[in-house]
Amino acid sequence: MNIQLLHQNIADTKRAVSLEYITTDDLKKSKNRQALKLAGFKADQDTICFLYDKNTLICGLDSHSCDDVRSVTAVAIKALQKTEYKSANITIDDKSLIPAFVEGFVLGGYSYEVYKTTKSKSKLKQISLIYTKDDYKSAIKIFSDAIVVADATCFTRDIVNTTPEDLTPVTFAKLAKKLAKENALGCKILDEQALLKENCTSMLAVGRASRHESQLIHLSYKPKNARKKVSLIGKGLTYDSGGLSLKPGASMVTMKMDKAGACAVLGIIKAASEMKLDIEINAFIGAVENMIGGNAYKPDDVLVSRSGKTIEVRNTDAEGRLVLADLLDYAQDKVKADYIFDFATLTGACMVALGQYTTGVMGHSSRLKHAVGKASTDAGELTASLPFNKHLKKQLKSEIADICNISNKPYGGAITAGLFLDAFIKEENKEKWLHFDIAGSAYTESPWDVNVYGGTGASVRFMSKFLKSL
Ligand code: BES
Ligand code: ZN
Ligand code: ZN
Repeated sequence: MNIQLLHQNIADTKRAVSLEYITTDDLKKSKNRQALKLAGFKADQDTICFLYDKNTLICGLDSHSCDDVRSVTAVAIKALQKTEYKSANITIDDKSLIPAFVEGFVLGGYSYEVYKTTKSKSKLKQISLIYTKDDYKSAIKIFSDAIVVADATCFTRDIVNTTPEDLTPVTFAKLAKKLAKENALGCKILDEQALLKENCTSMLAVGRASRHESQLIHLSYKPKNARKKVSLIGKGLTYDSGGLSLKPGASMVTMKMDKAGACAVLGIIKAASEMKLDIEINAFIGAVENMIGGNAYKPDDVLVSRSGKTIEVRNTDAEGRLVLADLLDYAQDKVKADYIFDFATLTGACMVALGQYTTGVMGHSSRLKHAVGKASTDAGELTASLPFNKHLKKQLKSEIADICNISNKPYGGAITAGLFLDAFIKEENKEKWLHFDIAGSAYTESPWDVNVYGGTGASVRFMSKFLKSL
């Protein structure tokens, strides 16, 4: 399926369908109101109605806002993919809606069929957005950036959806190398031997019982005259069995998605480099598999992290923070960044707190949290701030080491995980750092908004927006 932005309608009219977006108010004035009434169509949000004799698809929405357009477009594309139409076109007179259309079509029309022997075949080959206003040139830039971000989101989804046997820490590193080559990025991979030299023993402990060697992946995008430096850090657990604190069977299913933070980081650096942003980006990924075995790390172990801080392990399923502890320390040592963002499917507690649709945002800088909140609203992603406090911090106290890897109380688990990471953020970086818990938002087993079954690509859109705003 190809999407193009045209200035006037030169779209192929053979087996073409036109899309019209209407609210309940618009419906009253519509030239098709009789036919639509007959069909029982009320123009409610996310409802659609085909008028086949007019080769028209009517899409209902509550308002002509980006969020509502994006959402119903995702519904429309799924229906269109099942029809005999070869092409579809939409007339647009507001260029700020272009990203919403692009995301609705690309993300709503996404499906992951790598492991299916018969692939679904859609007749729909071409979508034309027809922009009617004079400032076509600026619309083209908006359009091409939107395509880049939507494609990067699908790229992230593809990796998240790949099975843990196909996407191991080593194949993750290969994939990163391939991206680096295609997008002219710097690429450095640390294998277990190199990780040991770097004293990443906390990260190494998590991967010890796996047949797959842990990998630290560092990609860099360095444009000339970069105005800012941003470090992105991603949790890349290619599988999280829980380790010796084994997950129950039902909770283990979907744990291939525990690499979603790392996949998002790859998607973001891909988008930023393709949009040619003048921001230096360093992406750090900890690709590790958390398994069981005679050589597995254990509850009761004390790990010495790269920073020198000692960690009492009381639960091997709180492994993401052990990987991130070393990764954050490494990233801060190697690059003096203006912003440090980590992305992780870190806690089930984040889903309990915010629901599955919302990314939890933690950190010390209210200004930064506010700026990211604005970017996510603009990008159509849901984020919410979870506040740190000194009382929750005390719950990580250990009797025998510097810090414990789990809290001693059952409440506030997303925040205590964030506070654990905070212990590995250097004093001078406290205001530059934010932690994103994407445990809920990164993966779904039922479709919502532009998301279909599997990885959602959470964070790629809002972070791309934030980076553009810098
Ligand atoms: N990867 C999980 C968190 C998770 C859970 C992500 C569900 C997505 C969906 C993480 O490593 C984990 O297991 N966390 C534990 C922490 C606990 C042991 C303190 C959790 O959330 O239960
Ligand atoms: Zn875990
Ligand atoms: Zn995990």
